[in-house]
Amino acid sequence: MCGIVAYIGNRPVVDILTDGLRRLEYRGYDSAGVALVGKNSLRLLRSVGKVKNLVDKINKDWPDHASICGAGIAHTRWATHGAPVEKNAHPHTDEKKNFAVVHNGIIENYAPLRENLIKKGHVFTSETDTEVIPHLIEECFEGDFIKAVTAALKQLDGTFGITVISPLFPDTMIVARRGSPIVIGVCENEAIVASDVSAIIAYTKQVIYLNDNDIAVVKADSIDLRNIDNVPVSREISHINWDTGAAEKGGYEHFMLKEIFEQPQAVANTLRGRLDENDATAVLNGLNLTPREIASVSRITIAACGTSLNAGMLGDYLFEDLADLPTEYEQAAEFRYRNPIIQPGSLIIAISQSGETADTLAAVREAKNKGASVVAICNVVGSTIARESGAGIYLHAGPEIGVASTKAFSCQVAALLMMALKFGRARRLSRQEGLDIIHELKRLPELIQEVLKTSRHIEKVAKKYSRAENFFFIGRGYMYPAALEGALKLKEISYVHAEGYHAAELKHGPIALLEEKVPVLALANDIPGKDKIIGNIQECRARKSPVIAISTTGDGEIKNHANDVIEVPRASIFLTPVLSVIAMQLLSYYVAKERGCSIDQPRNLAKSVTVE
Ligand code: M6R
Repeated sequence: MCGIVAYIGNRPVVDILTDGLRRLEYRGYDSAGVALVGKNSLRLLRSVGKVKNLVDKINKDWPDHASICGAGIAHTRWATHGAPVEKNAHPHTDEKKNFAVVHNGIIENYAPLRENLIKKGHVFTSETDTEVIPHLIEECFEGDFIKAVTAALKQLDGTFGITVISPLFPDTMIVARRGSPIVIGVCENEAIVASDVSAIIAYTKQVIYLNDNDIAVVKADSIDLRNIDNVPVSREISHINWDTGAAEKGGYEHFMLKEIFEQPQAVANTLRGRLDENDATAVLNGLNLTPREIASVSRITIAACGTSLNAGMLGDYLFEDLADLPTEYEQAAEFRYRNPIIQPGSLIIAISQSGETADTLAAVREAKNKGASVVAICNVVGSTIARESGAGIYLHAGPEIGVASTKAFSCQVAALLMMALKFGRARRLSRQEGLDIIHELKRLPELIQEVLKTSRHIEKVAKKYSRAENFFFIGRGYMYPAALEGALKLKEISYVHAEGYHAAELKHGPIALLEEKVPVLALANDIPGKDKIIGNIQECRARKSPVIAISTTGDGEIKNHANDVIEVPRASIFLTPVLSVIAMQLLSYYVAKERGCSIDQPRNLAKSVTVE
């Protein structure tokens, strides 16, 4: 995820900026850059790869850097628009180099803005959405820095956390936010700004968090806050009492927990700008498929591994239900060793958070060799699978650092539902059915928030069962892939043997293992199939297994059947698996914590499996 650091004051600015960038490295990034302003001068350096590469470049190109004080901005970029190459790294400037900008977030209307600015003579040098910002500021500039920034920001749709500097105003930085966090560290005769407190707390623990549409005019000795309509606002100074390590994790004990709690925002990022209520469909330009091509798809195969495969199984149900398309899911590791039947009309969907998983990549290559159309659903922009597939959907979930995949799953399902909606609308779904799905997707971040609010209760349930050595997770229909994902989460981080099973399959063998020491987690949400799962719960209870049921808020009936109940909000059958998986992510997290496991880096596991 992109990171911003900016400084104004009388200390050597480059050291402070590069130190801040290093502290943001944990967020994941692919390139970095820095810009400094002096009176009528702007220096800019950018490089691909680690902050160390940028520091090497600074040492070579700016041998005097240790003596430069004043204002500067720096950035670590995690590519969204445009490949991770130097020209796309931030800071970006207008062609006159009057304004330099670092930006986190996504400018949704950048394409028409860019087109318009080009018509007015602006020359663009990158593929980024960000570059429209300095050009717009320059276009609006009539001598007043703040007015120009404000006028430019008013034209932006989407999200931003930005810092702007100008050689015309070397004693001023302008900082603003809408949707992407920005924090200002309050110090004496200097100020440090960042997208995340971890870059600030080595300098000060007094910070101001900007609200959406706040603009701050920051000088070494003053911070002047206003809103986008130029009305003065005041914001509290907060005291941070985290140490540096905790700050990287946003105050959470583990990356996994942080990423679980990031899901409302991550899903909102996946959905942003992609839901079109006018046509009641999803806007997924990256698929590179015309409506005619979509209508001519006759069969879909989804290939993936691990959590991505579990999301893919849900995709299977979604494409069949919403688009009437024969769909199958396939372990990516098997794909090329079978004889995958590729016919005209075959579409392969490869799902991978990292975009580097060897088996999924091999499936993509095999499918392409056989002449299939391939689209990828990836989180990491510019990853090998994304590049080689050549078409797809990026999740924009931000980096996932914990080895256990959490937020990627929810975003993958959201992406698959959008894709199934688009295919469904091109084939059979009515406008009203399309709108219903859109409205439900729009509610998803808030529904996830409701699940997260129950974390204390889930922690209590986890503590109660944390000594069990064997677990079953059961579900039916859409809740079957959710059961598999719940079991995967528990086993990988807590080392408890957990099996995900179709509830109806239990009695074909595994029921022999049930006894009082083997708890069963049953996905008993109030959706079609609930009555049958209640029957399966009875079968488990009859074998003395304690049952934890995940059910729908307010569904009193389940309490009569289960030993413990975790409730998730009522939602459609398409999104109920996501909400239940999030409850199971929390359950697994707290079981692992209770057992003293290494949660972010479980034994024997790697975040990205790049070998067969
Ligand atoms: O990066 P990918 O989505 O391709 O990774 C696939 C699996 O390796 C991954 O989901 C793995 O199963 C996780 N540890 C699950 O939490």
